Amino acid sequence: MAFVKAAEAAAIPSGEGIVVEVEGKKIALFNCDGNYFATDNTCVHRGGPLGEGLVEGTTVICPRHGWEFDVSSGACLTNRKARIGVYPTKVEGEDLLVDVSAGS
Ligand code: FES
Repeated sequence: MAFVKAAEAAAIPSGEGIVVEVEGKKIALFNCDGNYFATDNTCVHRGGPLGEGLVEGTTVICPRHGWEFDVSSGACLTNRKARIGVYPTKVEGEDLLVDVSAGS
């Protein structure tokens, strides 16, 4: 697999996230001051939609119960044993590409 278009970069305002589907997988895309990150959309706590969470810097706050995740690394700041998958992104022209096969 390789990078595929996930969204137009301009569709994600700075400091916000959106939810998209890439190759059958729900992915959250975040624009953190012009840097783009892709993570699993599903919160590992109880399945909250992380792409709908509040974004502060590179931290997203799950809208369900407030667990916080670093979208650049997948690390959970609330529960150190938890983490979410993160995926490489790149911008090509106006498109934001994600490689969901290279998640970690
Ligand atoms: S579902 Fe995300 S904090 Fe509970």
